[in-house]
Amino acid sequence: MHIVTCAAPVNIAIVKYWGKRDETLMLPLNSSLSVTLNPVQLRAKTTVAISREFDKSRMWLNSVEQNIDNPRLQNVFREIKQRAYRCHSEKNNCGNREDMLNWHIHICSENNFPTSAGLASSAAGYSCLVSALAYLFGVDGEISDIARLGSGSACRSMYGGFVEWDMGRCNDGSDSVARPVASNEHWPELRALILVVTDDNKKTKSTEGMQKSVNTSELLKTRVERIVPHRINEIKEAIRDKDFDRFAEITMKESNQLHAVCLDTFPPIEYLTEVSRRIMNLVHRFNKLCGRTKVAYTFDAGPNACLFLLEEDVPRVLSLIRHFFRPVNSCFESFIHGLPIEVPRVTTD
Ligand code: DP6
Repeated sequence: MHIVTCAAPVNIAIVKYWGKRDETLMLPLNSSLSVTLNPVQLRAKTTVAISREFDKSRMWLNSVEQNIDNPRLQNVFREIKQRAYRCHSEKNNCGNREDMLNWHIHICSENNFPTSAGLASSAAGYSCLVSALAYLFGVDGEISDIARLGSGSACRSMYGGFVEWDMGRCNDGSDSVARPVASNEHWPELRALILVVTDDNKKTKSTEGMQKSVNTSELLKTRVERIVPHRINEIKEAIRDKDFDRFAEITMKESNQLHAVCLDTFPPIEYLTEVSRRIMNLVHRFNKLCGRTKVAYTFDAGPNACLFLLEEDVPRVLSLIRHFFRPVNSCFESFIHGLPIEVPRVTTD
């Protein structure tokens, strides 16, 4: 038996991916950019075991057995095995490993944060699985495109720091890969604060939500053609210059536009809740009071907020949150860029 265990962090989208031009190859309508959190706490951990003794392949997520026939999972297995075969043939090194490619696999994955609540659990999960499989089968080189086959945003969790997923131009998806834009040491003062509003499963999964938007939203077309390309350039400049005001403004506008597209989808999709909107209002009121942008919010396909801010403002913002929102469970410490962030679970009840 051969066993490999990997951990992979979640990534938080700054310029959002929403919509595919190819559902099978998982090719996006636009490029996107995210920040990968430190893998200490918000992470997926996956153990992959293969053995000639296993009579079938099986998978467990958070201790619950999953259907292994899921087409995305099968696409990932197929691609990994093809690349492994190619790598070993090139190195003239097939022997034992080629034999292993025919053995059944057992996969055991667990997340230490709410799964399916808009906290990029599938991104961390597939990124982790692909890393473990690549290690197990000795696949070298670019593998973010394999993670993309599992879940689009997973390709960005293959790297730390600020990461761009280039939409690519080729029909076969070979250039639709993730690339690091800046390492996590580049902007050590930047912090993320995740506010867990709910850990309930979201009603509309991202995949389904984006399909509906592609079919019905006029705003999505304008966004993809006219807005995102500029925003990608702008956010890269803001990151390069460590310009927090600019970074924060683009981040909030991107989040708002994603949710505007969701409302422009027919029938509309609502991921934000009353608590999410109260968090947004609090951020705007706080920024106004400070006379400059001190905090930015962003929401993916769920009501949980991610706030970006600079280290010096963390104590003030945390006390503000504790004042206006009641923590439901005890907060736990997490880390971004090597320094602590807090993950309070909040409600207004
Ligand atoms: C709102 O990557 O979960 O988080 O590719 O269909 O698996 P699939 O979708 P997924 O979508 C993520 C959407 C988002 C924005 C983002 O991460 O860029």
